[in-house]
Amino acid sequence: METQEHHANGAMSAAIEMSGTYVQPTYDRSPLVISKGKGSWVWDLTGRRYLDFFPGWAASGLGHCHPRVMNALRDQVGKILHVPNNYFTVAQGRLAEKIIQTSFPGKVFFANSGAEANEAAVKLARRWGGKDRYEIITMAGSFHGRTLAMVSATGQAKVASGFEPLPEGFVHVPFNDMEAVRRVFNKKTAAVLLEFIQGEGGIREAEPGFVRDLAAFCKEKNLLLMADEVQSGMGRTGKYYAWQHYGVTPDVMTLAKSLGGGFPIGAMVAGSRVQDTLGPGSHGSTFGGSPLACRAGLAAFEAIEREGLLKQASLMGEFLKMELEKLKGGSSPVVAVRGRGLMLGVELNSPGAGVVARAREQGLLINCTQEKILRILPALTVTRGEIKKAVRILTRVLGAQETPHAS
Ligand SMILES: Cc1ncc(COP(=O)(O)O)c(C=O)c1O
Repeated sequence: METQEHHANGAMSAAIEMSGTYVQPTYDRSPLVISKGKGSWVWDLTGRRYLDFFPGWAASGLGHCHPRVMNALRDQVGKILHVPNNYFTVAQGRLAEKIIQTSFPGKVFFANSGAEANEAAVKLARRWGGKDRYEIITMAGSFHGRTLAMVSATGQAKVASGFEPLPEGFVHVPFNDMEAVRRVFNKKTAAVLLEFIQGEGGIREAEPGFVRDLAAFCKEKNLLLMADEVQSGMGRTGKYYAWQHYGVTPDVMTLAKSLGGGFPIGAMVAGSRVQDTLGPGSHGSTFGGSPLACRAGLAAFEAIEREGLLKQASLMGEFLKMELEKLKGGSSPVVAVRGRGLMLGVELNSPGAGVVARAREQGLLINCTQEKILRILPALTVTRGEIKKAVRILTRVLGAQETPHAS
């Protein structure tokens, strides 16, 4: 038994070392080699299991290896992997229909990732705006992806630093500041790109008044309101899309992450007013909307519908938020808990990297963003028991932080 564990530890170290040698160091990685997952759990090479409260960086929103997604993929693998977009598949049309039925009338463009979906949105806005209207207003603290245009769109200087000159045409304003939007608006403005709940920015919600005024302003000035739902979409907040909490409807919406239940896919959804802006030859993607990705997406929608996961995300989200609130007070570093559904942030008064590391050592995987905000995005299938277990670990870990030698 001991030799087996020794062997597995050796295999973990070897995998980490090999990655260090051959994989570019673009990610800050934790020393964990994951070999399999199921629901809210993942296993490392030694067989140790971890409760995953940040599954797939929000891409595995249904938990790992959801049976409906796995069965759909298995079935499709036996038929055909890839069909180019100069032909049709049944799955692509059906997934587009599902996305439209759950959002607003319009049409879908399929991509492979969030950044690509946002690129498509920006290209649509520019085509629609014509050559003199191309500027897009985005928010400070936002995150829209890592392509060159998206680091320019993202409202965080650190993401773009060192990659100048950046593509032009993006203007950042403070989040939730309508006056700032009015100030930067000019005759070149074509659209506003907004995360209704900022993810990387620290689980920050758009204020209802701001959204109302922004939507009215976009209407008045004939601007496109574009919702980045890459992180907040697919039921995470208790509704399919975060904008549905606000009583407004965007003109364009982007999706990725858990759209494919863990399988890579992205989508840009254009409302009926602008749905035919990108005509033949204007945009494309070799793999976009592949049969595998679309079958996974259809299975993800089926899981959400048949298993009542929107309601579940609301209920479990309320429960988790209530439990996290209890971490406040006394000498606890927790100063605020915020977010909606199962998209929650715990703000600390000190850096959270140590908390994430200690939680992992104790068997719980979470994330920290903006240095001090623990990001907790469990699977929509998470159980009450798993939430209690996670909070028990967090309570211990946050308590441990108070002792001087533990940090
Ligand atoms: C809101 C938002 N938009 C876009 C992206 C980029 O998505 P991807 O990494 O799939 O390109 C992310 C990724 O974290 C995101 O959170």
